[in-house]
Amino acid sequence: MENNTRGFTSNIGAILAAAGGAVGLGNIWRFPYMLGQNGGGAFLLVYVFFVILIGVPLMMTEFIIGRRAQSNVVGAYKKLSHGNKGWITLGVFAIVGAFLIYAFYSVVAGWTLNYIVMASGGKLAGQTPEAITALFKNFTQGSFWPLLYQGLFLALTGAVIVMGVQKGIEKVSKILMPVLFILLLLMCVRSLTLGAGAKEGLSFLLKPDFSKLNGSCILSALGQSFFSLSIGMGAMVTYGSYIRKEDKLFNTSLWIAGCDSLVAILAGIVIFPAVFAFGMNPASGPELVYIVLPNVFNSMPAGTLFAVIFFVLLGIAALTSTISLLEILVAFEVEELHWKRSTASLVSTLVVFIIGAFCTLSFGPLKESTIFGKTIFELFDLITASYLMPIGALFMTIFLGWCFPKVEVKDELSNGGTLKVKAFEAYYFVLRFLAPAALLIIIISGIVG
Ligand code: TRP
Repeated sequence: MENNTRGFTSNIGAILAAAGGAVGLGNIWRFPYMLGQNGGGAFLLVYVFFVILIGVPLMMTEFIIGRRAQSNVVGAYKKLSHGNKGWITLGVFAIVGAFLIYAFYSVVAGWTLNYIVMASGGKLAGQTPEAITALFKNFTQGSFWPLLYQGLFLALTGAVIVMGVQKGIEKVSKILMPVLFILLLLMCVRSLTLGAGAKEGLSFLLKPDFSKLNGSCILSALGQSFFSLSIGMGAMVTYGSYIRKEDKLFNTSLWIAGCDSLVAILAGIVIFPAVFAFGMNPASGPELVYIVLPNVFNSMPAGTLFAVIFFVLLGIAALTSTISLLEILVAFEVEELHWKRSTASLVSTLVVFIIGAFCTLSFGPLKESTIFGKTIFELFDLITASYLMPIGALFMTIFLGWCFPKVEVKDELSNGGTLKVKAFEAYYFVLRFLAPAALLIIIISGIVG
């Protein structure tokens, strides 16, 4: 009974909503530039390997915790640990992390709105490469416009969350995710039919050259797989609590991770053939999507149309992810602090906007206000992706693997013993040993290097 009113109405709804949370700027903006900087095809292979070996088991772990407790991330640790203060703190830690991620993530999400407007107004068309770089710099270094677009994006996300889990999150994901796939496939066809360079770009993405691989590439791939699957900050705990009791957590996780990796690979197929066909640099970093791609669009037939499609696609991907970020916060405020859903959405959005404004302004007026040589935006990105997410995930594996009864873990994964979970022992081994070890390595290497 409880399930029907509390959470998603179907398995496909759960898969699309959680895949929406996973698929985001991480796949279409971050993944291609990471791959470009870390040697291409070999990076992709290592990335997929980590998604399967560690990402999927960690996602299952979050789902198990959430669905077992039927609760937001703080409530989940509270219930399952019978009120242990240490574990409740881990839940609060996830809430803080989600706030910080949302603050810097919404900056780049806001940029997509500006680029949709610029592209559809023909402002990017026919510009020289210097002018395109200047457009990006002038926009991001300003105050009013980037703040406005960030605020708009936050408001849009808030509007979906106010509508609730079923009528907001699930419904919007069911519409936007298929649209995202269609637009992505359209972009792939465009990119692959660009002639000579397309082949070169494709082999850069798909042909592994292991001589380019080093320790830091492997770590980047591991970190990217966590970021992309939204692991460690309670997003999947929250969504897990909305998954129906009869749905299979293992299969659901596989579908979500499959969608997530597929979108990353398709984004690579869109970007690299185009970049190579027009002789651009695949290793240009975070600006790849905002500076390199507009140049590419300018050199192709019907470039304006494809530029608009691309930035709409990027915006959709970002929106379904910001929805999952805000839901972590709102679920906590509604269930633990007993706020109304509308109050929680409004207050969280305002607080994130205030913190997020510092991230936006750190490209312009606050550029010189650095801590450890990093701007506020860079610091938020670094702290969350390199520390908070792996630390949150590490303690989560310790909790479920070492401090929670094995029979209960098995019970939840097998839907009360009605399913045969053949791979249970393998999963449990990853949960107790492999995942914590991998997470520890990430955390330590982040501190040392
Ligand atoms: N996975 C998202 C992406 O790839 C980012 C994201 C959304 C996230 N929600 C999260 C990361 C929660 C960590 C925790 O863009």
